[in-house]
Amino acid sequence: MITLNLNGKDHELDVADDMPLLWALRDVANLTGTKYGCGMALCGACTVNVEGQPTRSCVTPVSAVVGKRISTIEAVGEDAVGKVVQDAWRQLDVVQCGYCQSGQIMAATALLNSNKAPSDADIDAAMSSNICRCATYVRIRAAIHEAAGKLT
Ligand code: FES
Ligand code: FES
Repeated sequence: MITLNLNGKDHELDVADDMPLLWALRDVANLTGTKYGCGMALCGACTVNVEGQPTRSCVTPVSAVVGKRISTIEAVGEDAVGKVVQDAWRQLDVVQCGYCQSGQIMAATALLNSNKAPSDADIDAAMSSNICRCATYVRIRAAIHEAAGKLT
């Protein structure tokens, strides 16, 4: 049994210490908004924020995040910055198929929590390892600027 702090609440999960966080979220905690893409830390679909830092849950064992604040897409609207990001995503109609977008929004929220006025270069550096097969990159960048404008 392991206790994880998920979106501000402690959850006791009956999982092995080395289970990837992504499986614990999806298959045990029933938080299925976080997606499986590559399973190798290469695509960003599985991104959640751990202590505010974007983290690839597919390669992070649950034992590594015990006692840490884990935020997932399900609660991003409860974060002041996350809510602004979510609204900007809707306003600019960023999403195409949607598969990558949980990870994109979590990465954008982490970026704007640490930098309220990112440049294009800052955005590219923060987001470049979140892959979008639908190539929504232009709208993602515009939505991050839109959200930043609401935060400054
Ligand atoms: S599924 Fe984790 S980075 Fe691709
Ligand atoms: S919106 Fe389809 S993969 Fe990004």
